[in-house]
Amino acid sequence: MFYQFPENFTWGVATAAAQIEGGAYEDGRGLSIWDVFAGIPGAIKKGGRPEVACDSYHLVERDVEMMKELGINSYRFSFSWSRILPDGTGKVNEAGIAYYKKLIRLLKENGIRPNATMYHWDLPYQLQLQGGFGNRQIVSWFTEYAKVLLDNFGDDVDFWVTFNEPIATYVGYSAGFFAPGLHNEKYARQALHHLLLCHGEAVKLFRTYHFEHAKIGIVVDIWKHYPGRPGNEEDEAMALTGNEIRGFGMFLHPLFLGGYSKELLAYFHENDLMPVVEEGDFETIRQPIDFYGLNFYNGLYDDAEKMREREKQRKEGGNYQDRPESHPEAVCDVLHMLVEKYHLNIPIYITENGLPYDDEEGKEANLNDDRRIDYVKDVLKWAHKAIEEGIDLRGYYLWSLMDNFEWSAGYCARYGLYYTDYETLERIPKKSAKWYADVTRRNGFEA
Ligand code: NOJ
Repeated sequence: MFYQFPENFTWGVATAAAQIEGGAYEDGRGLSIWDVFAGIPGAIKKGGRPEVACDSYHLVERDVEMMKELGINSYRFSFSWSRILPDGTGKVNEAGIAYYKKLIRLLKENGIRPNATMYHWDLPYQLQLQGGFGNRQIVSWFTEYAKVLLDNFGDDVDFWVTFNEPIATYVGYSAGFFAPGLHNEKYARQALHHLLLCHGEAVKLFRTYHFEHAKIGIVVDIWKHYPGRPGNEEDEAMALTGNEIRGFGMFLHPLFLGGYSKELLAYFHENDLMPVVEEGDFETIRQPIDFYGLNFYNGLYDDAEKMREREKQRKEGGNYQDRPESHPEAVCDVLHMLVEKYHLNIPIYITENGLPYDDEEGKEANLNDDRRIDYVKDVLKWAHKAIEEGIDLRGYYLWSLMDNFEWSAGYCARYGLYYTDYETLERIPKKSAKWYADVTRRNGFEA
């Protein structure tokens, strides 16, 4: 059967500044929290550092050539805050502005619409030294940064995203395995509250420009948890926690329904984690936006019994990190949930989806990535079903254009349509790149 997508469907690929740009010390760029975090021994698998990454700072022409080969009509990337404002605030780095002007010009010359994220996890280190997102002043720091971006690139960007996957800040402040590497849940909860305020203020600022084309939204990843054994109390509680206390609910409730959910509030009160909320904060956070970006990777089934078993095996030396079960069908349910539970009546884009290969699988296996093609097909089939059922899904961005710096997993997890040779920086198309080019050309695929 041929899965035909609607006319004008957006087909894209996604990347992020800290993961591909490199050029960490060039042309006046300041340090980000990931540059510093990656310097801590043991923080990143096999000691990977983002200093060179894919060197897109110098190889941007090649990147755009690859996008042409793929036939995509939109490219999702992020701005590096510390390349634009090396200290986070104050002096603007003109070389940084020039870099993104060039990228956007190249995209436009090739009919590729820019989808640009203001913040994809790489806070300027200077701001972290002042408390980062834990300091309420971040709201004015971020608004200043957003203004520089909007002044310089405003209507040249079709899709503005304020934040990508805000949960990364929670992980970085409370669980320690993302930058800045802190272990303080109270601070993390406060940081997330401030982050949501930054989003709201940036949307308010955006509206003052009255752009002709540009739209604004946010990207929140959804890993929906389901009880492994429906009706089992323990599993139900685990799934609820995964969704409302530690997952998407912490963002979607304040963004679309207003305030924190009753489950989250109960958890805050029981654990003395209630963030400081000032009058008017929830109104600021709940700004109408133009589109929603869904990062979808998997659905998760929580089975307390199986988790305990896995935990035991781990202690006995078994492999805890077994390949997770794959639930591509969850994307359809998640899309419906956005409309039915969170009342979204704006266009939705899948702003990320993909599958990693381990570097250790070797270059040949990495280049012949049938597993990735099969998985993407499965997700797209379920997304197609959602469209048929009336969901206003407008586009799909595959993560990622090329293998890149995968945060704490360093260079070990390869997500690209192009294989990155980190010695030569050559990018080699994988089987999936050819397959995806066919999808974009035919606006659909055979399965
Ligand atoms: C989520 C993030 O937005 C992106 O930076 C990351 O590389 C991919 N998903 C894959 O983990």
